[in-house]
Amino acid sequence: ISLKPYNTFGIDVKAKHFTAVSNTNELIHVLKQENYPNKLLLGGGSNMLLTQNFNGLVIHVNIQGIEVVCEDANFVTVKANAGTNWHEFVLWCLNNNYGGIENLSLIPGHVGTAPIQNIGAYGVELKDVFVSCETISIKNQTLKVFKKEDCNFGYRNSVFKQEEKGKHVITSVTFKLTKQKHTLNTNYGAITSALENMGVTNPTIQDVSKAVISIRESKLPNPKIIGNSGSFFKNPVISVTHYNTLKHNFENIPSYPVSNTHVKVPAGWLIEQAGFKGKRFGNYGVHKNQALVLVNYGNAKGNDILKLSKIIQETVKRLFDISIEAEVNIL
Ligand code: EPU
Repeated sequence: ISLKPYNTFGIDVKAKHFTAVSNTNELIHVLKQENYPNKLLLGGGSNMLLTQNFNGLVIHVNIQGIEVVCEDANFVTVKANAGTNWHEFVLWCLNNNYGGIENLSLIPGHVGTAPIQNIGAYGVELKDVFVSCETISIKNQTLKVFKKEDCNFGYRNSVFKQEEKGKHVITSVTFKLTKQKHTLNTNYGAITSALENMGVTNPTIQDVSKAVISIRESKLPNPKIIGNSGSFFKNPVISVTHYNTLKHNFENIPSYPVSNTHVKVPAGWLIEQAGFKGKRFGNYGVHKNQALVLVNYGNAKGNDILKLSKIIQETVKRLFDISIEAEVNIL
């Protein structure tokens, strides 16, 4: 079976065996099958670059459902199952006037994979609303709950990308959201101007979501039209000393403070300066509005995109002495 519909890059590689599971019992049953030693768990396929056929069993986690666990006058605890589309979950929250994830509107992928890379955008990260997630061990099918403090969340990072990598399937995620007195995160410059353009002075969470959607639509390609995985690279953190040296040659180099000694530099800026923004190489290339996004114009091979990513990394290293790390998982 072709995995093309199951990865947002739209790479056409084949899996020898494929199954979709719609509840945890089915998942446990499939994980127990010993005749498939090679198993690949797949959620929304929005953060992976597939470079070769998979000679094993692909398990598509399609467990749906959202439920309110408990609530009081101000807060609500909501549990969403892993297969829920992330943006549909955001819209469900907005319909119920539950605040906290409006800045994370339109991020591709499913609820169950959101904690792995601690998805984030426009000043909010998943960890800000995360309570816990339920998981099933791939090896022995035991259930385990990871509380927020167990997850070691960082920038595009968590325990599920580190010591627990590849060991669990996340089956549901529980969030704590606001029911009133929402805390809006509108400091991000682009949100401020989008709200201004909308003529909104006293924004609601629904307005913030609309602003985010308009920004994302203007910068990021829709994976249903042009295959992509969002930011291909993480924004690198460099020392202030290194930054000051670069500033001599590149006086406009942007940065965000991280600590007293380190700053984060937008990889998109570095890649644009390196001349790659909007560059097309046949079937694949670098997005014209956001250099951090590599795109598949149709029928590109995962290895072509991987090669391009390596060339970009080498060029950025040569020009700026900065190593940029892939954010996307390469398989
Ligand atoms: N920039 C350029 N050229 C580009 C792109 C960016 O010069 O082609 C510079 C500009 O100075 C711009 C700055 O980079 O002001 C920041 O750009 P942007 O607001 O687009 O954010 P980003 O740092 O490039 C990160 C996330 C995005 C997230 C946005 C908004 C990472 C790896 N990416 O991008 O996340 O939507 O911030 O918060 O941190 C994703 O993870 O898939 C993703 C899209």
